[in-house]
Amino acid sequence: MAKYTVITMPGDGIGNQVLPEALRLLKAVGFDAEYIHADIGWECWRNHGNALPERTVELLAKHKLGLFGAITSKPKKEAEAELIPELRGKGYSYFSPIVTMRQRFHLDTCIRPCISFPGDPLNFIRQNPGGGFEEPLVDVVVFRQNTEGLYAGVEWTNPPEQVRAALATHPKFEPFAETPGPDLAVSVRIITRSAARKICRAAFEWARKYGYTSVTICEKPNVLRETSGMMEEEAKSVAKEYAPIRLRSTNIDAQTMWLTKNPEDYKVVVASNLFGDVISDAFAGLTGGLGFAASGNIGDEVAVFEPTHGSAPKYAELDPPIVNPIAMFLSAVMLLEHVGETEKAGRIRSAIAAVVKEGKVRTYDMMRIPGGAKAISQGAASTFEMTDAVLAKLDAKASAEEPVYVAAGNGRRIH
Ligand code: NAI
Ligand code: MG
Repeated sequence: MAKYTVITMPGDGIGNQVLPEALRLLKAVGFDAEYIHADIGWECWRNHGNALPERTVELLAKHKLGLFGAITSKPKKEAEAELIPELRGKGYSYFSPIVTMRQRFHLDTCIRPCISFPGDPLNFIRQNPGGGFEEPLVDVVVFRQNTEGLYAGVEWTNPPEQVRAALATHPKFEPFAETPGPDLAVSVRIITRSAARKICRAAFEWARKYGYTSVTICEKPNVLRETSGMMEEEAKSVAKEYAPIRLRSTNIDAQTMWLTKNPEDYKVVVASNLFGDVISDAFAGLTGGLGFAASGNIGDEVAVFEPTHGSAPKYAELDPPIVNPIAMFLSAVMLLEHVGETEKAGRIRSAIAAVVKEGKVRTYDMMRIPGGAKAISQGAASTFEMTDAVLAKLDAKASAEEPVYVAAGNGRRIH
């Protein structure tokens, strides 16, 4: 029997192209795992009115470890129109299966490393005042609270009377009191102290474990005084236990500006759900973009790893596929690190680093050319060729000047 069982959920579109490629790498490094396929996504919704089938939930509950590709989701009305005729008008409503999965398994900690690989033409560069450019290497890990905040799903258009009545008890609701129900939309931002504390602690633990010197809480407590206020309060309280790691505090708006000025100054960043989503995409944009952005959704029992990108339907039918599988590879690397297979994780990460640095094999996004069938004839590598290139580097010894990746560091670079 294999040591690990991994539930594989390729989902929709390019999820089906990149996930099998990651499995090739996991097999090549000898990860002792059995893989069980589970359905998720659009076809499940269309045919059964549920994008996250119960069998998939049961498999995850049992085996606790998942690798997920991507799903397609569509706005409510479009989603209903695509149901098979037998299910239409029967009261099914579409929910994102990944959001549901996070909530169902309390995958409350989302970890998104945004770490640049030297040699990637998509890395952030900065103009020097004296002329020329420099490429500051970004090494940021974003901790995003994954189940609460504005994504908790407590929202209404035309809120029920009791909700209106409750809102009316707040003096600041006065300007909205006369707005007709159908013209009033409300999304509630819920933060609980325990979840705020937990995500802040997870961020500090990571910083301590991997030698990061600061944790930045990225919120907006001057305006969102209650919810961001609680996040910041908890960050300050947790920080006391982690000296000498420094706690910094930034506002989400200012942070999105500063991160392109001095991204190398930020280390671990912690934020509530929406702000964490925004800031992790922003940092990911400095370190290769969607083709490189990986993430882990971690709960007390279950953990699911996924690239940040979606199903990119416009590229899903191309043969050979052209999308960059590195985000999916790095998600598999995070899975390996999560279960303590750090040597295997380090091997894959170093092989990716070597391919990127060498620069001979690049998918279309890394060449900054448009995607599409023509990309291959313009010199872009296919998804398969990228996997082959990484496979070929797996056993090649890193030369002295090449960056060496700490096995147990989620990519922390040592030289
Ligand atoms: P997307 O991430 O699927 O694609 C946006 C664009 O980014 C693509 O058209 C492509 O140009 C580029 N891209 C994405 N992944 C890439 C890769 N691996 N290599 C190279 N280029 C890549 O986002 P979009 O187009 O907004 O959404 C498409 C569908 O995916 C929607 O139905 C959306 O709801 C869903 N989605 C699902 C997510 C998930 O499964 N976690 C996350 C984001 C979107
Ligand atoms: Mg996002």
